[in-house]
Amino acid sequence: VASEPDSPRTLAPAHYIDPRSFERQRERVFQHAWHMFPRGGGPLSGTVYPWDLALGGAEEPLLLTRDAQGALHCMSNVCTHRASILVERPMKATSLRCPYHGRRFGLDGAVLSAPGFECLEGFPAASDALPTVPLRTWHHFVFASLAPALRFEDWIAPVEQRVGALFEQPMRHSPEHDRTFEVGAHWALYIDNYLEGLHIPFAHPSLNRALDFSEYHIELLPHGVLQRATAAGSSVHFDWPTSHPDHGQRIAAYYYWLFPNTMFNVYPWGVSINLVLPVGPSASRVIFLRYVWDEATHDSGAGSGLDQVEHEDEAIIARCQRGIRASLYRPGHYAPRHEDGVQQFHRLLCAAMDEPSP
Ligand code: FES
Ligand SMILES: [Fe+2]
Repeated sequence: VASEPDSPRTLAPAHYIDPRSFERQRERVFQHAWHMFPRGGGPLSGTVYPWDLALGGAEEPLLLTRDAQGALHCMSNVCTHRASILVERPMKATSLRCPYHGRRFGLDGAVLSAPGFECLEGFPAASDALPTVPLRTWHHFVFASLAPALRFEDWIAPVEQRVGALFEQPMRHSPEHDRTFEVGAHWALYIDNYLEGLHIPFAHPSLNRALDFSEYHIELLPHGVLQRATAAGSSVHFDWPTSHPDHGQRIAAYYYWLFPNTMFNVYPWGVSINLVLPVGPSASRVIFLRYVWDEATHDSGAGSGLDQVEHEDEAIIARCQRGIRASLYRPGHYAPRHEDGVQQFHRLLCAAMDEPSP
């Protein structure tokens, strides 16, 4: 009888099913993550967008505003008087008025007036302004974090360094391709599935025809994973100039995942962004946003039929959600090489949770 392989096993099921684990993931992971504003380039001047930051169960109500000078601000959407939500839907505005007792705020969060507080000495103080949160823009996109665990620039650097030039081209948001999928599974099962290509020949027959699976690369990033897929035959691929490190390679797609829940799927035609939002221990919401910079190749090669691929993944993930609760299930080994990305996710998750790595 052969002895068992001396190699690590995947995450214990408790991470995916225990409601207390889910709570801890909200506190340790999502409170400290960078979250992308799920509508692209942020509001136009003089407009206000409510933005409930998905943290898993207790969402943080934020507001994204752009003032008349064009400056973006991100702040709490909760009145500093007695906690009324200020804004329920996107609107044009030059200031914000609380619907409860009429306190007014500027688009930067400063108190402008407050009925009933005329004779309160020292009012308004700095603490009466709406609390602001760290905000960054990267090309067309806006990100915020309540308490960032790392610098935004460090988090995004691997994407910027390798494919950032693509994002400088004119690009068009394609809202008719945007999707919101409600997935009946823990968010980490969705991420696990994304981080390996081993399932592609079995779960995605049509995607498999566009890729040369023998040339599938996984690169671990300090705070994420990059998977590079090579085009099969004459399938669409990148044509980089000689100065680019990937010149001459027939790359069909770059799949970037940045811890914990942001994905940039970069194709020759543009980018499909996936945001995996935790809703509950067995419920997630996945937002797909599509930006196109090359109409000629749009929706071809590895970047075609994305809805189909998504449905195939959801079916698999739903099976794992059922299976992970089984008393007879014991976590399996990581497939050498193929599941290095999954293991990287688990390492980053355990580090953020202050738990030993698998
Ligand atoms: S809660 Fe906003 S003014 Fe009272
Ligand atoms: Fe998949």
